[in-house]
Parts: sequence; C-alpha cells; structure tokens
Amino acid sequence: MDPSLEQAGDTSLGLIGRIRDRTAATGVSGTITAALNRILVKGASISLVHVLLLEADQVLAAPTDASFEMRFLTSDEVRRYATQRGSGLSPDLGDRIDHGLDLCFAALSEGRLASYSWLALRSVEPEHAAGVALGLPPYMAYLYKACTHRSFRGRRLYGAITASALKQLEKMGITHFVAFVYWNNASALRACTRMGYRRLGMLAARPSGPLHVPKAARLCGIRFGAEAQPQLAMRLGRDAAFGLRPSGPKRSDVEPARDH
Ligand SMILES: CC(C)(COP(=O)(O)OP(=O)(O)OC[C@H]1O[C@@H](n2cnc3c(N)ncnc32)[C@H](O)[C@@H]1OP(=O)(O)O)[C@@H](O)C(=O)NCCC(=O)NCCS
Repeated sequence: MDPSLEQAGDTSLGLIGRIRDRTAATGVSGTITAALNRILVKGASISLVHVLLLEADQVLAAPTDASFEMRFLTSDEVRRYATQRGSGLSPDLGDRIDHGLDLCFAALSEGRLASYSWLALRSVEPEHAAGVALGLPPYMAYLYKACTHRSFRGRRLYGAITASALKQLEKMGITHFVAFVYWNNASALRACTRMGYRRLGMLAARPSGPLHVPKAARLCGIRFGAEAQPQLAMRLGRDAAFGLRPSGPKRSDVEPARDH
C-alpha cells in the first residue's frame, strides 16, 4: 500500500478512536463542544471565556470540611509542593509569591496539597488571562490556576477555598474576585455559579488582543489589553527590580492546573 495512504488510514482510525473515547467520557455534547473549541482555538486563534465576578457579600459558602487546613502557602511551600505528583505546580511559581503580587491559597490534608487557587493583584499577564493583559482595581483579585488534585475532586474544595480566601483577604480590603472560565469548561462553570459568582459576559480574544470585552466588566473597573498596560508595566518593573525572571506555568506531566 502507498505509505501515505497507510498513514492516512492510521490517522483516521486514531481520530475515530479519540472521538469514541471522548464521547464515552463526556457524552455527545462534550465531544461537540470540544470540537467547536478546537476550531475556535486552532483554526481561528480565538479564545472565548466567561468573565465572572464574586462579591464578598454574595458568597454562597459550602460547609468547610474541618479535616482540611486552609491557608496561604509560602513561596518555599509552593516549591516543595511542586514536587508532589499531579500538583500542576512548578518550582518557579514560588517566585511569584516572593514578588508580592501573587498569592496561593490551599487546602491541605495531612500535609498533602489537596486543592489550591492562585490570586493575582493589580494586574495579570496575558498568559494567565486568555491572552489578554488585565488591570484590576485595588479591591479586586484575579483568581486563576485553580486545581483540585484528582483524588480530592467532587468534595466542593474549590468553593471552600474561594470562600475562605476571600474572607481572609477582606481584612486587606479585597472584596471582589474575578475569574475567567473557558466557555466549554462546564464543570468549572457549575462550580463557580454554585459559589455565587455572577457572569459579566464573554471575552473573545485573539493573540493580537481582545476582540470583544464585556461592558459590565469594564464598568466594574477591569481593564483589558492595551488599557491594562500601565498596571502591567508596574508588575513587570517590580519583577525586574526583584531580579526575577517572568514565571510562566510549566505544564505538568499528569494534569496541569488550568488558568481558567
Ligand atoms: C474545576 C475543579 C477546580 C473543581 O474542583 P473541585 O474541588 O472538585 O470542585 P467541586 O467539588 O465543586 O466539583 C466541581 C465539578 O467537578 C466535577 N467532579 C466532581 N467529582 C469529580 C471527580 N472525581 N473527577 C473529576 N471531576 C469531578 C463535577 O462535574 C463537579 O460538578 P457537579 O457536582 O456540578 O457535577 C477541578 O475539577 C479541577 O482541578 N479541574 C482541572 C483544572 C480546572 O479545570 N480548573 C478550573 C479553572 S476555572
């Protein structure tokens, strides 16, 4: 057989296998949304995310499981937990804590990292916000890179961490969280809705910058793309002053924390 035909046959069989596996895992609608997302992201380089806002007095807190210790991690703890299999963390993320504009709030179980979320203050680099730089008002933090370890999922830790972090940050004057969730991440969207986030609208972005910005988000004081550059420049200047290199996420071999 012509080798190129044989290769084409293998590719189609591989594709059929992948579609079958995905349909078994996520159902027909999950397969369709995954295919649509692939067309958007790979074909048109467009990212589509829900912009969500949580206000301190709107939090629908899940009862906290007392067996978990919930607190902010130090930079050395982040570096240490980065070696825990499946954590989705990389050691250089500890630098983000040292820098002073990022925090990592975690649920720990007998010394194991069960769940965590990162929080960015004042500004966010494009690589952590669907490719769009963000500027934030001082009373708001951007919640990203949320991840619950596979063996702890489904125990509402994501909601418990969010509620607990916001409660602690209120003392510092931070009363709002903003989060991005990709339009096709249904479980994360359900989890956010359950904890009291409200939808401000959809952000559509290409690598060159935002295509559509939700008006409600701008009214809340969030700045996108070029408008956020002055705040972002302050963050990058601080990086340089600390002698830190920019720390992007290193995708782990098991399952990465998703920024959205
Ligand atoms: C999204 C995520 C942080 C939720 O964490 P969590 O602490 O398990 O949160 P919850 O207990 O509220 O569960 C949320 C949803 O996860 C799904 N879920 C529950 N148990 C699960 C399990 N064992 N394995 C996989 N998903 C599970 C369910 O769909 C659940 O929603 P539902 O109860 O409405 O069906 C977690 O699934 C995760 O780390 N996902 C990978 C990274 C990611 O997508 N981050 C989102 C960034 S916004």
